[in-house]
Amino acid sequence: MTRRQRGAAAIGLACAMAMFAGVPATAHAATAGGSPAGAGDPYFPLAGNQGYDVAHYDLDLDFTPATHVLNGQATISAEAKKDLTRFNLDYSGPAISRITVDGRDATYSQDGQELTVVPAKRLKSGHDFTVKVWYGGVPVTIDDPTLGIYGWIYTDDGAVGLNEPDGARNWYPVNDDIGDKATYTFRITTPNGVNALANGEQQGPPCVNGDRTTVTWNERKPMSSYLSMVAIGKFDVTNGRIGNLANVTAVDPTSDGDGAVLQSTTAEAIAWEQQKFGRYPFDSAGGIVDKSGVEYALETQGRPVYDGMPDTDTIVHENAHQWFGDAVTPKTWRDIWLNEGFATYVEWMWDEEHGGPTAQSVFDKYYAKPAGDKFWKLKTGDPGRDEIFSGSAVYYRGAMTLHQLRTTMGDRDFFTLLRTWTEKYRYRNVETKDLLDLAQSISHKNLKPLFDAWLYTEGKPAIP
Ligand code: TRP
Ligand code: ZN
Repeated sequence: MTRRQRGAAAIGLACAMAMFAGVPATAHAATAGGSPAGAGDPYFPLAGNQGYDVAHYDLDLDFTPATHVLNGQATISAEAKKDLTRFNLDYSGPAISRITVDGRDATYSQDGQELTVVPAKRLKSGHDFTVKVWYGGVPVTIDDPTLGIYGWIYTDDGAVGLNEPDGARNWYPVNDDIGDKATYTFRITTPNGVNALANGEQQGPPCVNGDRTTVTWNERKPMSSYLSMVAIGKFDVTNGRIGNLANVTAVDPTSDGDGAVLQSTTAEAIAWEQQKFGRYPFDSAGGIVDKSGVEYALETQGRPVYDGMPDTDTIVHENAHQWFGDAVTPKTWRDIWLNEGFATYVEWMWDEEHGGPTAQSVFDKYYAKPAGDKFWKLKTGDPGRDEIFSGSAVYYRGAMTLHQLRTTMGDRDFFTLLRTWTEKYRYRNVETKDLLDLAQSISHKNLKPLFDAWLYTEGKPAIP
C-alpha cells in the first residue's frame, strides 16, 4: 500500500476518494510514436482514439477558485477492442504525475493532445481494463480563433467546464470521440461555501472535511464527452419538478439570472417538447446561469449552461438539443446540422404555437435572400471545421431543410419522423443518411433530391 492509498483510506471515513495530497510522482519513459491517434473525424482528426471503448469516467476533481489549481484523478473503465500494447487518450490539461492500468504503473508520453499509455501488460481484445490518471496544476483555457472560448473556463468565483466541440481534454483525459458515449461520476471538492454542479443527479448531501466540501454527481445515461460539464462557484439552486422529472436550476447570484423564471420557463419548454418528441431522455433536467463570458449557451447533457439570463427561445433551443444532439448524436462533426438545424427548427415550431410567426413565414424571410447572398455559401451538410457554428449555413439553412422536409412529407409524417428519430436512435450516434432513410420509409417518397439540394449543394436551392 502506498502512502497515498493509506492517506485516502484514513480520510475515506469522512469523504471517500476526495484526497489528493501526496500523490507520488512516477518515473516514466517516453514511447515511440505510431499508435493510432484519432477516431477518424473529418473536422477533428486528432480527437478520439482507436482500439478501445470507454464505459465509465470517474472524475475526482479538486478545484480552488483563488489559485485556479485543479487537481484531478480520472478513473476510466474501458473495453479493449483489439489486443493493445499501447493506447492513446486525448489530454491537454495540467501536468500528469502518474498513470496506472489495472493497478500497475504504466509508462506514458505526451505529444500535443495525444497521451500515449503503455501498460505493463498487454491488454487483450474483449477484456475490460481500468486506467487511472493523476494530474494537477492550472488548466489553460482554449481560445480558438473561430470556435471561441471553451474547455476549462474561469469565472469570478469558480470555473465551468464547457467542451463543445473538443474541449474535454482541457480538464480530463478522455477518448474524445463524439461516438464513444459513456456514463460519468463527478466527485468535486472545493473550499467550503463554494457549490459544484455537473451533469446528472447529485448523490446524497455534500460531504464536509475540514475546510473543504465534496459533492458527487452521477450521469447514468450514455453521454458524449463534448456534453460533459461541471460548474463551480456560488449558485442559488432551485429544486423543482416537471411531472416526475427533477428540474435542477442554478443561478450565479451576481449575474442577471432570474432563478424563478429559469425554473418555470425550463419546465414549460420541456413539458411542451415531451409532447412533441416523446419522453425526456435523461434522468433529470435543469439549467445553469453563470458569468462565463463565452457568448454562447451550451446544451450540456440534462442541464444546459447559459452565460447570462436566457430568453425563452434559447431555453427552448438548448432543451430541444436534449433530444436532438444529446440523446441522438452525430457520428462526426460534419453532421452538426443534425444538432443545430433541429434545435433551431424547434424554436420555429415553438414560436408558431405560442403566438409568434409561423415556421413558413420565418422560412420565407430567409428564402427571400438573393441567390448571390453569402447566406447561401457553404454546404449545410459539410460546412467545414471552422464553420460548425455558422448561423446561416448550419442553424438557419439546417432549419430550412427541415421545413422543406415538412412541407414535402406533410405534417403528419414529419411529426412521426421526429418522434421515431428520437426513439429509434436514443443514446446512439447517427449520420444524415439515417435521417434520409427513415424519412423515406415513413413517407414512401424519394427525398434524396431534397437532401442533395439543401445539404450538399452550395447556393440557393430551387423549390419545386
Ligand atoms: N451548441 C451551442 C448551441 O447552439 C452553440 C455553441 C457552442 C457555439 N459553442 C459555440 C456558438 C462556439 C458559437 C461559437 O446551443
Ligand atoms: Zn444549438
